[in-house]
Amino acid sequence: MRSNSFASALAYAVAFCAWAMCHSAAAQQQAAPAATEAAPKSAEAAPKPAPTMPVCAACHERQTQSIVFTAHGAMNDAQGSMCQACHGDASEHLKDPSKKPENPFSKIVPATAAKQSSVCLTCHVGNRHLAFWESGMHAKQDVSCANCHVMHGTEHNPPIAPFTTSFRPNEADLCGTCHQPIRAAIMKPSHHPIIENKMKCSDCHNPHGALTPVMLKQESVNAQCTSCHADKRGPFVFPHPPVDENCLSCHTPHGSVHYKLTNEHVPNLCQDCHDWSKHPGSFYGADKGWLTPQGAPNSSVSTRLIARSCLNCHNAIHGSNAPGARGKFLTR
Ligand code: HEC
Ligand code: HEC
Ligand code: HEC
Ligand code: HEC
Ligand code: HEC
Ligand code: HEC
Ligand code: HEC
Ligand code: HEC
Ligand code: HEC
Ligand code: HEC
Repeated sequence: MRSNSFASALAYAVAFCAWAMCHSAAAQQQAAPAATEAAPKSAEAAPKPAPTMPVCAACHERQTQSIVFTAHGAMNDAQGSMCQACHGDASEHLKDPSKKPENPFSKIVPATAAKQSSVCLTCHVGNRHLAFWESGMHAKQDVSCANCHVMHGTEHNPPIAPFTTSFRPNEADLCGTCHQPIRAAIMKPSHHPIIENKMKCSDCHNPHGALTPVMLKQESVNAQCTSCHADKRGPFVFPHPPVDENCLSCHTPHGSVHYKLTNEHVPNLCQDCHDWSKHPGSFYGADKGWLTPQGAPNSSVSTRLIARSCLNCHNAIHGSNAPGARGKFLTR
């Protein structure tokens, strides 16, 4: 982080020097127009391409600095037409600074979230990631583009491109500001490597909206999970039906206190569905367990075994392709 902010500070400094040089060069040219033609430009003297500084920079230096190297700033021109694309027509404002532009992003009288987003969408509506913005939970709950994308930031709160440049913060920090329970979940002992910055919320969700439940990128939960965990997709010779049905029958996506992101500890996890098997999983199963209701040994079960560590034997829990009938009980 430190070296990043240092580098960006340096970069700004360089850009502003270049800008200042252009200006003084322009001033000299105005003073002595004849000299320009006379002096041929040597390769060393060729000015570095500097970003165009808009007229607004004179009074809004911080806002200009903060976007100058972003995709938006790169397209700015001397009139600040990019600034005006977001803040509204500033021609009156330029004549008289007290006549403020329309500015839907005003801190004092902000426009509605929908209005703010529509400003961004005038240019970004064609982006395929944004195709379902209107149907997404965020648009419906008045979360606007500017809630996630900071346009003018500081090094601690990076500007426009936090997710696509080297200013990259941990995306989950942003999402966690609003989604506190999820933030708590990803800190649990078993979790997808999100806090390690190896995975992002947006690997599974499209924050810009999707037609799927919880704005998943794939069409279903299982398609989402198996897009990475392809070995769990099957089809298996001996499938385990809940796996085909929904991974979340046993797992939780964000974090768990039980190992391998499971909802519960084994054997409880299994016994939610398997309250009876040929081998009792507990002492207390009445006729489904150790003893019959009459108190006699239950002849239908092995009385030698209390099999609580289900996975020791049923280790092919997602399905088995073992040849013959050997995979039948998911034991290999
Ligand atoms: C001559 C100085 C000057 C120039 C040039 C200038 N502004 Fe301003 N601008 C101001 C002042 C002064 C304010 C009021 C600041 C305040 O209220 O804190 C302001 C306020 C703003 C605001 C905030 C409005 C609000 O809702 O609070 C925006 C947005 C803005 N200017 C955009 C621009 C843009 C875009 C340009 C270039 C096209 C520009 N300004 C050029 C002086 C200037
Ligand atoms: C992509 C849209 C976008 C562009 C381009 C943009 N801004 Fe902004 N601007 C915003 C948003 C959103 C805010 C609201 C506060 C924030 O995100 O920092 C804002 C805030 C401001 C403010 C008000 C700051 C305050 O404290 O209330 C000023 C002034 C401003 N911008 C000037 C400019 C100038 C000058 C330019 C061009 C150099 C520019 N903006 C380019 C979106 C934009
Ligand atoms: C005047 C047109 C225009 C407006 C208005 C505009 N953008 Fe952009 N934006 C662009 C262009 C062009 C690019 C660069 C090409 C691209 O990535 O699509 C860009 C890039 C981006 C990027 C990707 C940055 C990167 O480094 O790749 C984000 C995020 C973004 N814009 C968000 C916003 C948000 C949020 C708003 C509203 C506050 C907004 N834009 C308003 C034209 C615009
Ligand atoms: C809930 C937070 C959130 C909201 C709201 C949001 N974005 Fe994004 N946006 C992101 C994240 C996260 C990424 C990076 C996605 C990735 O890395 O795959 C992103 C990426 C982008 C990109 C670059 C995508 C590309 O093509 O590479 C653009 C452009 C963009 N957003 C524009 C917008 C616009 C316009 C809006 C409002 C209509 C908006 N965003 C609303 C979180 C958000
Ligand atoms: C400014 C606050 C805010 C931020 C930041 C934010 N969200 Fe949201 N998000 C909401 C609100 C409000 C809802 C709708 C209510 C709810 O389901 O909690 C929502 C809903 C969702 C949903 C859908 C829940 C459902 O029931 O359909 C997902 C998924 C989601 N957000 C993911 C993200 C991701 C990923 C990020 C970061 C890229 C993010 N959010 C950033 C406020 C935010
Ligand atoms: C491995 C894929 C995956 C990742 C990564 C992921 N999610 Fe989810 N998320 C899901 C699935 C699947 C659901 C549906 C859970 C359910 O139905 O019980 C969900 C549900 C949600 C919900 C709505 C339901 C709820 O529990 O409140 C929100 C909000 C959400 N996720 C936000 C986030 C945020 C924020 C991040 C990043 C910190 C994130 N997700 C990372 C897969 C993922
Ligand atoms: C974007 C790719 C991706 C998606 C999508 C994904 N995972 Fe993962 N998953 C990973 C990675 C990476 C790991 C960590 C692997 C490691 O640490 O060796 C992991 C680990 C796991 C683990 C083991 C956790 C542990 O504590 O060791 C389980 C269980 C898991 N994922 C289940 C799921 C489920 C269920 C889904 C669907 C909701 C899902 N995954 C979606 C990438 C993904
Ligand atoms: C019947 C419950 C159950 C279902 C349904 C289930 N799992 Fe699992 N999964 C487990 C158990 C139990 C473990 C721990 C296995 C172990 O430690 O040997 C596990 C472990 C994992 C692991 C980490 C260890 C490994 O084998 O790589 C991943 C990844 C995983 N599951 C993904 C999935 C995916 C993807 C789905 C949906 C297609 C799914 N699971 C459905 C019970 C289930
Ligand atoms: C969500 C419910 C559910 C959970 C949780 C679950 N199972 Fe299953 N399991 C099933 C269903 C349904 C079948 C198919 C039963 C049938 O074919 O008669 C099955 C079949 C099996 C079979 C093969 C039975 C046969 O006759 O082929 C074994 C072994 C098994 N499960 C073990 C486990 C273990 C071990 C766990 C815990 C890690 C577990 N199951 C968790 C629902 C579940
Ligand atoms: C010591 C090894 C072992 C352990 C531990 C074990 N099983 Fe089994 N299980 C087997 C074997 C072997 C079979 C096949 C029985 C047969 O061939 O009659 C089986 C069969 C099953 C069946 C399908 C046949 C039936 O009786 O319906 C289910 C369901 C099952 N086990 C669930 C579980 C659950 C749940 C646990 C944990 C509570 C568990 N098993 C623990 C070895 C084990």
